[in-house]
Amino acid sequence: MSRSRKLLVWSGLSVAVAIGLVALYTAFEYTLVPDIREGLAGAEAKDGVALGRLLFETRGCSGCHSLGSLSSSTIGPDLTGIATDASASEIAASIVDPDAEISTNCDGQPCPAGQMPRFGEILDEREIRALVDFLMQYHNN
Ligand code: HEC
Repeated sequence: MSRSRKLLVWSGLSVAVAIGLVALYTAFEYTLVPDIREGLAGAEAKDGVALGRLLFETRGCSGCHSLGSLSSSTIGPDLTGIATDASASEIAASIVDPDAEISTNCDGQPCPAGQMPRFGEILDEREIRALVDFLMQYHNN
């Protein structure tokens, strides 16, 4: 093999490995790690609001969103008054397919698109429903 050919093969391999690592990290962050934490917390036995709260804390939601006294992250919109601003089906739609409609209220600025994972591809229907039930408790008084 010529030297430039070898270089081409190696750079191709490195790109493939890098993409693989990113995919693995994403799977790990949003599925494997939370699966383990939820297993330890008995997620299967919990229902409705309690499961929603657990998912909010383990699926990365709290890493991007503020919610009452539970979290104070500012990448996404503050969800503290979400139930006053949105219906249950709107909240569900925002979780399943976040970029279908981009919120304009991230710390007074338009929100970044393409940041929130499409949780419709990560969570099942029961988990989405639990998250919605949990978030429906958060009204602005
Ligand atoms: C990597 C950061 C990130 C993660 C993780 C994340 N979100 Fe988001 N979220 C955003 C951003 C940014 C927006 C605003 C842009 C948009 O609407 O897509 C948003 C929008 C939303 C909205 C719509 C809010 C509104 O005012 O319209 C809801 C509801 C929501 N997220 C819930 C969740 C839940 C529940 C989880 C966990 C299952 C979650 N998010 C995880 C960043 C994130």
